[in-house]
Amino acid sequence: MVETLTSSPSISRFNPRRSIPALFSSYKTLFALLWILLFTSLFFRQTNLADGLFIFRRPLHLPLFPRFRPVSFNITDFGAVGDGVTVNTLAFEKAVFAIAKLGKKGGGQLNVPAGNWLTAPFNLTSHMTLFLAEDAVILGVDDEKYWPLMPPLPSYGYGREHPGPRYGSLIHGQNLRDIVITGNNGTIDGQGQRWWERYRQKLLNHTRGPLVQIMYSRDIVISNITLRNPPFWTLHPYDCKNVTIRNMTILAPLFKAPNTDGIDPDSCEDMVIEDSYISVGDDAIAIKSGWDQYGLAYGRPSKNILIRNLVVRSMVSAGISIGSEMSGGVSNVTVENVLVWNSRRAVRIKTAAGRGAYIRDIKYKNLTFENVRVGIIIKTDYNEHPDSGFDLKAFPVIRDISYDSIHGEGVRVPVRIHGSADIPVRNVTFKDMSVGTTYKKKRIFQCSYVSGRVVGSIFPKPCQNLDLYDEHGTLVKKSVSENASDIDYDI
Ligand SMILES: *[C@@H]1O[C@H](CO)[C@@H](O)[C@H](O)[C@H]1NC(C)=O
Ligand SMILES: *[C@@H]1O[C@H](CO)[C@@H](O)[C@H](O)[C@H]1NC(C)=O
Ligand SMILES: *[C@@H]1O[C@H](CO)[C@@H](O)[C@H](O)[C@H]1NC(C)=O
Ligand SMILES: *[C@@H]1O[C@H](CO)[C@@H](O)[C@H](O)[C@H]1NC(C)=O
Ligand SMILES: *[C@@H]1O[C@H](CO)[C@@H](O)[C@H](O)[C@H]1NC(C)=O
Ligand SMILES: *[C@@H]1O[C@H](CO)[C@@H](O)[C@H](O)[C@H]1NC(C)=O
Ligand SMILES: *[C@@H]1O[C@H](CO)[C@@H](O)[C@H](O)[C@H]1NC(C)=O
Ligand SMILES: *[C@@H]1O[C@H](CO)[C@@H](O)[C@H](O)[C@H]1NC(C)=O
Ligand SMILES: *[C@@H]1O[C@H](CO)[C@@H](O)[C@H](O)[C@H]1NC(C)=O
Ligand SMILES: *[C@@H]1O[C@H](CO)[C@@H](O)[C@H](O)[C@H]1NC(C)=O
Ligand SMILES: *[C@@H]1O[C@H](CO)[C@@H](O)[C@H](O)[C@H]1NC(C)=O
Repeated sequence: MVETLTSSPSISRFNPRRSIPALFSSYKTLFALLWILLFTSLFFRQTNLADGLFIFRRPLHLPLFPRFRPVSFNITDFGAVGDGVTVNTLAFEKAVFAIAKLGKKGGGQLNVPAGNWLTAPFNLTSHMTLFLAEDAVILGVDDEKYWPLMPPLPSYGYGREHPGPRYGSLIHGQNLRDIVITGNNGTIDGQGQRWWERYRQKLLNHTRGPLVQIMYSRDIVISNITLRNPPFWTLHPYDCKNVTIRNMTILAPLFKAPNTDGIDPDSCEDMVIEDSYISVGDDAIAIKSGWDQYGLAYGRPSKNILIRNLVVRSMVSAGISIGSEMSGGVSNVTVENVLVWNSRRAVRIKTAAGRGAYIRDIKYKNLTFENVRVGIIIKTDYNEHPDSGFDLKAFPVIRDISYDSIHGEGVRVPVRIHGSADIPVRNVTFKDMSVGTTYKKKRIFQCSYVSGRVVGSIFPKPCQNLDLYDEHGTLVKKSVSENASDIDYDI
């Protein structure tokens, strides 16, 4: 059920190995390179024999654990056993405790070698690098008795699935600075199967915990590893600043893995998510900022977020979402060079009355939809509220959204923008769009209470709500029916 990178023909675009043959395509280049190599090696032989040999030896002896910090530890130094059975929580805690003392000296690195390192949740510390070797797997204990409870997130009120305390995350951090989680494609595996089953059977009394959750922190890099099978969301940066997520693989089953979102930036600013593959049981990415009255009171937006060079898949929800919890506001988001394939929805904004705040300055650029049911969606009646205490008159403002270079094939409904009299969608721009459709030609560009423009010609033919401009930006035809409604969920 889990998709791997090799199963999509389009993924190969991101394989760096593919571009290497191109470099050598000309014999001239190859010849010149050989000469350079020869001369370099001669030079080094003459100056320092050992260094010269090192150049040739290095590929054979890639360091297992490259050094990123002045001090590094091996998890086995703390008594951990990678047999998949021993519970290593204490070893992780001791390691983090040792690193916590090194903060002023540049911090410390914790290396996890190949093996299956079972553990209950543990906390990270500042100035820490967690490095997962190839074939290193950190396995989450799947018995909830081992999972400590913590208070609900302030911007979500009493808790998301159940009132009261929630389970923490397998790997957790609060009020930290300078954290790196990286490796040579090692894995953090939440063993979510038991959690999903027990959730479905209503056997859990608390909200499930994410796989990795970093809160109230800054300067975070998460890269070069695989995350899979989270009990709940996979990677949840909450109220964080300066977060980079790069070159990741995030996997969960496409069905029956409830709420296994890939990455959920939540009240975060200055974030980059790039060069990654995400195939999960809910949204691949969902930008959030709190829930209704609690999110409004917390008042921390998600902003300045760049998402690019991704391949994503979601059969239950969408590739890239904004919302539905967005009550702290969401602004200045760029989503570019993203392929959404074999999915239910591609890019979706979801909100409702009661959520308040705004979603604005959102730029989508160079998106490819391959075999998705609905491409572009804005939904303003996504009514899922924490309790009855929300303000029905808290209408979110949705505006300044552009879709540029949108292509694809096998799409049933390319556009469905469903604004309302209370929540109209304003200032939307479409430019350079050609999406091959699988359905009847009519009513596949659906609009309701939408104002904005189309620049140049696009396919399919836009709804009548939008003004038409030519390629040079000259108004051709002004819309007289921005509030016309032509939404059909049956297609
Ligand atoms: C990393 O591991 C995942 C899961 O096994 C795999 O799908 C992916 O291709 C690997 N990535 C790289 C860069 O080798
Ligand atoms: C870490 O510990 C394991 C097991 O003792 C050992 O095989 C490995 O070589 C150690 N790695 C480093 C870098 O010390
Ligand atoms: C991690 O730290 C938080 C905040 O201090 C605390 O509530 C939680 O219990 C800690 N988790 C573990 C597993 O120690
Ligand atoms: C991505 O991560 C893998 C290991 O997971 C590494 O081999 C590869 O070089 C990384 N690619 C880039 C461009 O950083
Ligand atoms: C949930 O609560 C019920 C009733 O108090 C209790 O019997 C059950 O053991 C609890 N389950 C868990 C997983 O804590
Ligand atoms: C963001 O975090 C990275 C990684 O820790 C750090 O190198 C960089 O200086 C930070 N940028 C800012 C503006 O703080
Ligand atoms: C990912 O791995 C590649 C190849 O080893 C390395 O060049 C790169 O710096 C790593 N990225 C990060 C952000 O650690
Ligand atoms: C918008 O976000 C980008 C990062 O994607 C950032 O470089 C830019 O400065 C932000 N713009 C504003 C006005 O803050
Ligand atoms: C558009 O995105 C695709 C990945 O979906 C990428 O291969 C292509 O290079 C991008 N095009 C441009 C012009 O950036
Ligand atoms: C409409 O949105 C675009 C971005 O898509 C922005 O540049 C422009 O200023 C907005 N126009 C108005 C009138 O707000
Ligand atoms: C369309 O609806 C919006 C929001 O209800 C309203 O502000 C606007 O005046 C309406 N436009 C027209 C042309 O009726």
